[in-house]
Amino acid sequence: MGRTGSPPVKSISSHRRRGTLQPIEADMSSPRHKLQIRTPVNPPAGQAFEQLAATLDAHGPVVLPALLLCDFGHLADEVERLEAAGAAALHLDVMDGRFVPQLTYGMVVVEAVRRATTRPIEVHLMVEEPESCVEAYAKAGADIVTVHVEGLTNPRRTLEQIASLGSRAHLAISPGTPVARIEPYLDVCDGVLVMSVEPGFGGQAFNPVALAKLSELAALRSQRGGGFRLAVDGGISTDTIGPVAAAGAELIVAGSAVIRTPDYARAISELEQLARSAA
Ligand code: DX5
Ligand code: ZN
Repeated sequence: MGRTGSPPVKSISSHRRRGTLQPIEADMSSPRHKLQIRTPVNPPAGQAFEQLAATLDAHGPVVLPALLLCDFGHLADEVERLEAAGAAALHLDVMDGRFVPQLTYGMVVVEAVRRATTRPIEVHLMVEEPESCVEAYAKAGADIVTVHVEGLTNPRRTLEQIASLGSRAHLAISPGTPVARIEPYLDVCDGVLVMSVEPGFGGQAFNPVALAKLSELAALRSQRGGGFRLAVDGGISTDTIGPVAAAGAELIVAGSAVIRTPDYARAISELEQLARSAA
């Protein structure tokens, strides 16, 4: 790193203020330090999204497997299996145990997935004060950073910040939140993620309230002449994927419907076929 001569870092908080995530070990030459350095991630945030957009335009809806229920003891293997199975992109659920009851994982795991795949990554932030960490996730290589309107004090500013960092800015709405709540921000959304379960857990039953919201958003989008992608997350199965695709969903997150099957390729391809024939 060529930083041996740099003055020692004084505190964790001074690092946080600069928005960096380097470790604070003073002995830069020790093997321990070398292990702790977080190497720059590839590709830069947002870059891999172009390929995904081309796939959407050419073939229709895609399935984004959610890793939430995967075997985290073999994370890189799981990512490799999903990539080999044809996953067009991956969906990572970051939960803080406060915005939602469950605590999942954060930056370290997102960075590990980033290193393990060249496919686009969506980071779905189910955290309080998401504005405080969007920069870090974008810099970690999230092609899409998805934030919940329910957790934001200034949605417009946060969405603009995500876009300025080179990631796609997606806005999520929980089942109880009406579309009207996000309408003022659609001009700065690259995508809208309609939750079809309460955020927090995989394996829940699909809530059909999402269908009406997808249709409403699709109509708003046509009125505006385009501008954002439609996504859906929660309870997707071979029974529900057709209806969400027919209602306009293009980026379709599927957790248990992929991860709880023995053959990821078969699950993804069956779901995508159903979605594409219904779209
Ligand atoms: C729920 C998460 C989802 C979840 C989806 O809060 O946002 O991404 O992993 O899992 P399934 O498809 O099993 O509902
Ligand atoms: Zn999710």
